[in-house]
Amino acid sequence: MKLSDSQRKVSNIMAGFHLLFTVVLGHVLGSLPATSPPHLPSPCLVDDMEVFCDGRNLRSAPADLPLGIQKLDLSRNIFQNLTRETLAIQPTIHHLNLRSNKILFIERGLFKGMKHLKFLDLSKNSLDVFAMSKSSIGKLGAVESLDLSGNGLHTGMTKYFLRDSSSLVNLSLNSNSLTKIAKDTFTGSPSLRKVSLHNNVILEIEDGAFNVLFRLTELDLSKNSITCITDFDLSQLQILNLSKNSLEAFQTVYSDSDYELVSLDLSQNKIHYFPLVPRRNKLAYLDVSRNQLQGVKSLAHNESGQYLMHQDFPSLNYLDLSYNQMKTIPQSFFNSMVQLEHLNISNNCIGSFLVEEENGLNNLKVLDLSYNSLRDMSFGKNTLLALEELFLQGNLLTTIEPHTFQGRPRLKYLLLQQNNLHICPSNAESSFSNNHKHHQGCVAFSSIPTLQHLYLSENHLKVLPNNAFEDTPLTLLDLSLNPGLVVGLNAFSGLEDSLVHLLLRENHISRLDVDLSSLNHLKLVDLSTNRLSTLPSWNKESSIESLNLGNNHLVTLEYNTLVALGSSLKTLYMGSNPLSCCSNLRFFQLMQHSTVDVPDIATVTCVHKQDSEPINILRVTEEMCHSLDNSSRSLTILAILGAALALVVALGFLAKVCYNRRHTNSSTFNA
Ligand SMILES: *[C@@H]1O[C@H](CO)[C@@H](O)[C@H](O)[C@H]1NC(C)=O
Ligand SMILES: *[C@@H]1O[C@H](CO)[C@@H](O)[C@H](O)[C@H]1NC(C)=O
Ligand SMILES: *[C@@H]1O[C@H](CO)[C@@H](O)[C@H](O)[C@H]1NC(C)=O
Ligand SMILES: *[C@@H]1O[C@H](CO)[C@@H](O)[C@H](O)[C@H]1NC(C)=O
Repeated sequence: MKLSDSQRKVSNIMAGFHLLFTVVLGHVLGSLPATSPPHLPSPCLVDDMEVFCDGRNLRSAPADLPLGIQKLDLSRNIFQNLTRETLAIQPTIHHLNLRSNKILFIERGLFKGMKHLKFLDLSKNSLDVFAMSKSSIGKLGAVESLDLSGNGLHTGMTKYFLRDSSSLVNLSLNSNSLTKIAKDTFTGSPSLRKVSLHNNVILEIEDGAFNVLFRLTELDLSKNSITCITDFDLSQLQILNLSKNSLEAFQTVYSDSDYELVSLDLSQNKIHYFPLVPRRNKLAYLDVSRNQLQGVKSLAHNESGQYLMHQDFPSLNYLDLSYNQMKTIPQSFFNSMVQLEHLNISNNCIGSFLVEEENGLNNLKVLDLSYNSLRDMSFGKNTLLALEELFLQGNLLTTIEPHTFQGRPRLKYLLLQQNNLHICPSNAESSFSNNHKHHQGCVAFSSIPTLQHLYLSENHLKVLPNNAFEDTPLTLLDLSLNPGLVVGLNAFSGLEDSLVHLLLRENHISRLDVDLSSLNHLKLVDLSTNRLSTLPSWNKESSIESLNLGNNHLVTLEYNTLVALGSSLKTLYMGSNPLSCCSNLRFFQLMQHSTVDVPDIATVTCVHKQDSEPINILRVTEEMCHSLDNSSRSLTILAILGAALALVVALGFLAKVCYNRRHTNSSTFNA
């Protein structure tokens, strides 16, 4: 917070300069003779009952506004004094926007008479100057929504605006310099329902400061400097945002009454113990990410002192615990969370995650356990039956209990990159051995009929066995970054009618014998950064639209394979291959006249002669490959060159003779 404090100081100093400047300017302009021609602003835009006069250099409202307008936008002008004279507007106005002016004075009681004015935006002005003069804007009349954000207001200044604002419902004090919310801050605005105090420097909230607001449902205190909340007792509050403070603890007072709190954002603080939420809570959304949680127990108090406890969350739908320091989470923690749909525990130090109790987490759709230290994971029978997305990347998984994936009837996305897995051979291949035993030490991906996306990159995979995905109709399969991967001849069988994206990047593959044309729906294939010296064969017309062959060892491309590809291909990556210029002529000609997009064309080069610089394939011509190495042809060329030279010499001689003769003639004439 030190940084933001000093930033704030700088901005206050800037505001001081700004004040000086505007005051001086005001004096200069004020002393101009009254007869000087009035500044004519470009006309405002009128749209039905709304008038837009934003950014027109106005210091007072235009005089000729149409009758009966409801909405007036005067933002980004140069209003300084808001008086009955400068703001001579009709009382029908409902919505007045004065954002980004230079307002430093407001006539007392100006808004009192505006019986219809509900929405007033005074953000980004210099109302701290007004507050320093200790005058008040008086009754706020009918105003229900007031925006005072970005006015450099300090603690104690809000009273000049809020003292008499009984109709106020929504208030924004965002981006000011408040350090304290005093007991009496909101006594003049008892109808408030929503208060935003985002981006101040609040360190202290006096006891009961918000308790006067019986209707308060939404409170934004994010990006302040609050260090501790030990007595939360706003039972009617529904939404509370305390993100980006310096909170070390959040505790509710002990009470048996119902709390309305639905959404609590405590992310980006320094909380050690799980927040102590209301005992009878309706919490649906709880974000405790980026804190210092070591576990999920809360610190509670009673007469005999402090103790640790678990709490109930019967309505919780979304729980984010990512970026903490938790090593374990006991299963019982989730027992009460029968509504939970989204659980994020990524970026902790969890070593084991087991869900064994029947009906455990049965509403959960998204489970993120990525970037932990997981070695052990299992889901029991009849648990996690609604799971659709499972994030397990960046862990230490080598094996996973059988049926962990097969037992989830809705599983669609499975992210397992950056682990240490072996893929089990299909059931068919292992039918002779005891199935269970056979599956030890590996993970089975067959028979997951709902699975669509499977990410297995960076797993040190050595073998992709045949029929590995039998009865698992994947649409996307990522096997990239498994150097040395041996792909079985029938590894993709079972995916014929489903697979669309196949990623095999950086696998050191030198030969792919799989017939990719059997994958009828394949659209995108990434084979970049391998050691391919021949193209995988396509036995029939392919459906591939995007093919990446960049950074391989390709010298000659089989023309027929390319023609088979050509009918569907839209994008082709080819760069960084040692292509031969003359053995791919037909292909290059095809490329020069086709509509296929080659995004890396600048790096697609070929080798013409040994030891010479590679040439971009667009510059290859047929002639290059039909000349020069034929020595008799070069002799002929030499002969022709010799003859041409002789001719030139002869012509030069003739010309000289002619010139001399002419020259002589003319001088004779002159004489
Ligand atoms: C603004 O109003 C104050 C108080 O009425 C007055 O003293 C000041 O001269 C006014 N400034 C301008 C620029 O009109
Ligand atoms: C107050 O804020 C709430 C929530 O953002 C909004 O729905 C409501 O329309 C606002 N009321 C006024 C008068 O601006
Ligand atoms: C809480 O405030 C932060 C910072 O302004 C914002 O990014 C976040 O979306 C808010 N949380 C919720 C739940 O709206
Ligand atoms: C979980 O939290 C991390 C970090 O905040 C975020 O990057 C990730 O997208 C979240 N996961 C899900 C599934 O929302």
